[in-house]
Amino acid sequence: MPCAGVTAFHGLIARGGMDKGDALLVQGTGGVALFGLQFAAALGARAIVISSSDEKLARAKALGGSILINYRDTPDWDVALMKATDGAGASHILELGGPGTYDRSLRSVASGGKIIQIGVLTGFGPKPDLARLQWENADIIGVTVGSVEHFAAMNRFLTEHAIHPIIDRVYGFDEVPDAYAHLRSGSHFGKIVVKL
Ligand SMILES: NC(=O)c1ccc[n+]([C@@H]2O[C@H](COP(=O)([O-])OP(=O)(O)OC[C@H]3O[C@@H](n4cnc5c(N)ncnc54)[C@H](OP(=O)(O)O)[C@@H]3O)[C@@H](O)[C@H]2O)c1
Repeated sequence: MPCAGVTAFHGLIARGGMDKGDALLVQGTGGVALFGLQFAAALGARAIVISSSDEKLARAKALGGSILINYRDTPDWDVALMKATDGAGASHILELGGPGTYDRSLRSVASGGKIIQIGVLTGFGPKPDLARLQWENADIIGVTVGSVEHFAAMNRFLTEHAIHPIIDRVYGFDEVPDAYAHLRSGSHFGKIVVKL
């Protein structure tokens, strides 16, 4: 909650102003993405989820995802997103991939939309073509986690909307190597917990 949750809350709500009627794109079904999806569902915003797995997309649908795209089967997911939104695009994008996703995020952003720059799942140092930002009057919001105030505000929001973080699996401290191996496999959905 103090990292993945606060990062999504800070970018999407505290600075991004996401609200009812908006359309959020989340990339994958890891910790930051699923907090974003739950926040969007609580606010009445539309959630667009891309994932490598149809099974994970089905689980994301149960959490409120409404446009579901498998990025393995559909590498041009930005084209599919534009089609599914009738050309409108996403008003908010949790940019979690970095170099491997950034250009498609720019091609998916709605007019006046916001790209919340957070992740490095495909590496560091994206070199995006920023021209589309200008054509769409769109913004980039750079985020490093958040403040104590963001944490407190997020906790109020979680309580108000009865949101429970999605926990994939809980490990004991003596199982830490297994927890890391599970994380590395990328098969998780949400957070992996190590009990101290
Ligand atoms: N800026 C900050 O302050 C901050 C804070 C927290 C995290 N982060 C960064 O944000 C990113 C996400 O963190 P996390 O904790 O949510 O990670 P995570 O739980 O490990 O997320 C992993 C998931 O991301 C998805 N993914 C991987 N490659 C992808 C790609 N090319 N396109 C779309 N989805 C892809 C996969 O989902 P599927 O299996 O569904 O495909 C994978 O299971 C990381 O790079 C992390 O370092 C930054």
